[in-house]
Amino acid sequence: MNDTNNLFERGQKTKVLNLYAGLGGNRLKWENVEVTAVEFDPKIAKVYQDNNPNDTVIVGDAMDFLKNNRNEFDFIWASPPCQKHSKMMKATRHDVADFFDLQLWQVIIFLSHFFDGSWVVENVKPYYEPLIKPQKELGRHLIWSNFDITDFEMLNIKNFITQGTTKETEKFKEWLGIKYEGNIYYKGNHCPGQVLRNCVHPDFGLHVFNCFEKAKERGQINYDQVAINFDLEHERSTCG
Ligand SMILES: C[S@@+](CC[C@H](N)C(=O)[O-])C[C@H]1O[C@@H](n2cnc3c(N)ncnc32)[C@H](O)[C@@H]1O
Repeated sequence: MNDTNNLFERGQKTKVLNLYAGLGGNRLKWENVEVTAVEFDPKIAKVYQDNNPNDTVIVGDAMDFLKNNRNEFDFIWASPPCQKHSKMMKATRHDVADFFDLQLWQVIIFLSHFFDGSWVVENVKPYYEPLIKPQKELGRHLIWSNFDITDFEMLNIKNFITQGTTKETEKFKEWLGIKYEGNIYYKGNHCPGQVLRNCVHPDFGLHVFNCFEKAKERGQINYDQVAINFDLEHERSTCG
């Protein structure tokens, strides 16, 4: 287990693993951190690196990296792809029917059983009942974590979902504080705003990080928290 209990007394930088890093909205306002970010799209990773020049950016698979390197870190944030869980799956006339992406649930269960540090998994509210109960619902986000997250007034930009023109995309970048020239198209999506819609707002990322720091200082990280949503005892009794 990482010896993070005296991290703040030692005045050391917190070692953070930022998985599914995207453009790095969640990370933009964190200070006094040493961050390793994992993102598999090279164009997105390049923007992340330009905006966070001191971070180590790995272009690769988040789950592989997590499995092999988790013990190097004090705090892990993961934002697995949200498209296949999103209410947008049901809010269109087009036939987008598809299976949801298992990574979200795999990462939550993995972290809660095999990581001894502090962790956060962020995603959108799904169109179905979440399989694992989240720690907190904030705006359009659900958060699973092993520490408490306090309330936060979520900011939103007007017409968040439909922002798509070049002018709107530039405003969106400004709102998030993320800089890059031109447009990036996420997984062939024709809307240049999609990659920005994927971002957590930096103020929200900072709020969650501050909650982690407070919980750490007060010794309120629940290292034994196990992410399960159903009654195991009941399951056992019905199976004999
Ligand atoms: C929801 S976005 C992350 C947003 C980020 N937390 C932020 O605030 O800007 C998810 C990102 O994960 C990346 N991604 C998807 N699957 C991945 C994988 N297996 N390994 C690494 N990155 C992945 C996508 O390219 C996308 O940029």
